Amino acid sequence: MNILITGASGFFGWHIASTLTAQHNKVFSIAHRNSPVIKDVQWIPHDLRYSEGVDKIFEAVQPDVVIHTAAMTSVKECDTNRKDAMIVNIKSTERIAELCDRGNVYLIYASTDLVFDGTRGNYSEEDPTNPVSFYARTKRVAEEVVQSFTTNHTIVRFALLYGSPSPHSRSFLGWMGDGFRNNEPVTLFTDQFRTPLYVKDAVYLIEKLIEQKDTPPRINLIHAGGPERLSRVDIGRIYCGVFGFSDSLIQEIKMEEKGEVVNDAADVSLVIEKARTFLNFNPKTVREGLEDMKKYM
Ligand SMILES: NC(=O)c1ccc[n+]([C@@H]2O[C@H](COP(=O)([O-])OP(=O)(O)OC[C@H]3O[C@@H](n4cnc5c(N)ncnc54)[C@H](OP(=O)(O)O)[C@@H]3O)[C@@H](O)[C@H]2O)c1
Repeated sequence: MNILITGASGFFGWHIASTLTAQHNKVFSIAHRNSPVIKDVQWIPHDLRYSEGVDKIFEAVQPDVVIHTAAMTSVKECDTNRKDAMIVNIKSTERIAELCDRGNVYLIYASTDLVFDGTRGNYSEEDPTNPVSFYARTKRVAEEVVQSFTTNHTIVRFALLYGSPSPHSRSFLGWMGDGFRNNEPVTLFTDQFRTPLYVKDAVYLIEKLIEQKDTPPRINLIHAGGPERLSRVDIGRIYCGVFGFSDSLIQEIKMEEKGEVVNDAADVSLVIEKARTFLNFNPKTVREGLEDMKKYM
């Protein structure tokens, strides 16, 4: 199968590309600033701010599946550079969805739990969205773009992802781990809740979607989170337990105490029953995920 991945130099895309090449697929990736070496991945340099040329990439690759993970992902950067955030996160998605529709290519779009405002938590696929940050707004609009441009798609709303770093990007564990390793205080919220998902489980979900791509009915929207609703402090404590750091370094604060506007939602925990039922999705707890990560360090 020919698989085109956008953003394979990023944290999530790198894990996807590394796994899918191991399964004898032909994997192509659109690279922008970085193109880390992944055995058997063919890199195609392209800046997605420019939609011209994407059609040529489709022609050359003839993809059966496109996994669109490339995005401006920094909430801060999206806020300060709104124009680029709109172009990269929305416009490029529009072009990709349009080309997928034209070639009847299956499109998997990586969206986010942050499309919800976080006032309630435990969100299912049926709940109304209401993104808080500009980043999350671009991701929600991109979902709408995918929905309106092609029927042959699945939008996956991933929860906070964690796992081993990729060569050029790492999950939130990166800065947290740096703090503990340097014996510095690590400030974590007591009142911000997520359903963290181990990146290998997120990749498993992608694999299942690809496997079922020709089996109706098409799942157009699905939530993918871990099995537990945890605060940032809970996550920090589990991390310390697994990696042998003292959790006395954790400084607990509430979001409102941060001293700057936290442009983030409080509780975007996801309900994952649909993924459990239709994709046999049984993700690891954070302790299990971190224990697995530790084996490969
Ligand atoms: N990480 C999470 O916790 C999480 C949770 C939910 C959803 N998601 C979604 O999952 C996707 C991947 O997230 P991530 O954490 O892996 O992000 P990341 O590490 O920041 O990677 C982003 C990727 O997008 C590429 N990119 C950015 N601007 C580009 C441009 N102009 N042209 C071409 N490529 C461009 C980057 O390429 P270069 O580095 O080469 O510039 C990089 O490969 C995103 O869509 C994000 O919204 C992530």
